[in-house]
Amino acid sequence: MSGKVKVGIIGVGTIGSVHADAYAKVPEAQVIALCDILPDRLQEKGKRHGVSTLYASYHDLLANPEIESVSICVPNRMHAPIAIDAFKAGKHVLLEKPMALNQVEGKAILAARDAAGKVLTMGMVRRQFPESEVVRQAIASGRLGEIYQIRIRMIRRRGIPGLGGWFTTKAESGGGGLIDIGVHFFDLAMWATDLWNPTRVSAKIYSKFGAPMKDYHYISMWAGPPKFDGTFDVDDYAAGMVRFGDKATMSFEVAWAANAKDEQMAEFIGTKGGLVIGGDTVMLTEVDNMLADVKLNYNKDGGGFPQEIAKHLKAVKGEAAPPATGEQGVIAMRLIDAIYKSSEQNREVEV
Ligand SMILES: NC(=O)c1ccc[n+]([C@@H]2O[C@H](COP(=O)([O-])OP(=O)(O)OC[C@H]3O[C@@H](n4cnc5c(N)ncnc54)[C@H](O)[C@@H]3O)[C@@H](O)[C@H]2O)c1
Repeated sequence: MSGKVKVGIIGVGTIGSVHADAYAKVPEAQVIALCDILPDRLQEKGKRHGVSTLYASYHDLLANPEIESVSICVPNRMHAPIAIDAFKAGKHVLLEKPMALNQVEGKAILAARDAAGKVLTMGMVRRQFPESEVVRQAIASGRLGEIYQIRIRMIRRRGIPGLGGWFTTKAESGGGGLIDIGVHFFDLAMWATDLWNPTRVSAKIYSKFGAPMKDYHYISMWAGPPKFDGTFDVDDYAAGMVRFGDKATMSFEVAWAANAKDEQMAEFIGTKGGLVIGGDTVMLTEVDNMLADVKLNYNKDGGGFPQEIAKHLKAVKGEAAPPATGEQGVIAMRLIDAIYKSSEQNREVEV
């Protein structure tokens, strides 16, 4: 395959536009069609991104034989049905996170991919952040020794997205902050350490802020404004501990809303050193028998969505493996399913 890969974007809300902007920075790509069920939004996004082929139904976009690969940027409930239909139509797929509502749907996506023999890239964009590569390399080089504990804190003090809309409706989203933002750091942690074997988890989720909706006080709202006649039946806080066999553990706190300081950090604790990201990237090590906190400086430009897309297109052309695989997506879904189960059953469960 040579030349530009022709692409369609399904769902042109917030992240669909981010994808369109990112494709524009990747010379190997050409976005030739957009799809959304909201006609006004579709027209507006068509103008904004300079795309004139617009579809109200994703089935019609998938029937366009020119399109080789699609970005799926719709609410989580539609990830599995659209991804499966895309593979049936012979398209490659870049699928936004989380993979689906649960692992059962994730496995169905994998089966459709295998039947079609096409490429599936999971939209785990955090892997493409410059700091993430620094962590992965520091661990792979052996500099940190054996990683035996990972700490994750992803806390928004007041950051529920689209209160009352699809994000806060379990049937549409699969869950709250845990599945929405937790998946980013779970994936990052397993990818950076190559610990793809979560075995057991003990966790608790809470839902303290979304209901009654009018009592939720906030400064700004991603995907707002609130829909007070909508639903809030998902988690806004989750805490727990994951075991990776008997070799390593991961403790986590993930919140859309909590009376706690805003924080986004992951800390990797190894036998020879530690590394913390979120804010400065700092290696906790020893120099000449003294303890040393080494602030790492590196090029922080680039990466992100354009890099994710460029890597996906390399995979489409058969030049590389996808930057985040469907198999890894299913492991993340399995872990999230187990966290919800542990909370419901009030005990440690198998992943
Ligand atoms: N990678 C990231 O950092 C990141 C950030 C935000 C959102 N996301 C993910 O992207 C997805 C979309 O999130 P968003 O914030 O853009 O939501 P959004 O509500 O802003 O946009 C979703 C769009 O999909 C459209 N849509 C719904 N059903 C459709 C269908 N059947 N066919 C075509 N279009 C349909 C909606 O009309 C809407 O315009 C979610 O899965 C979310 O988890 C990822």
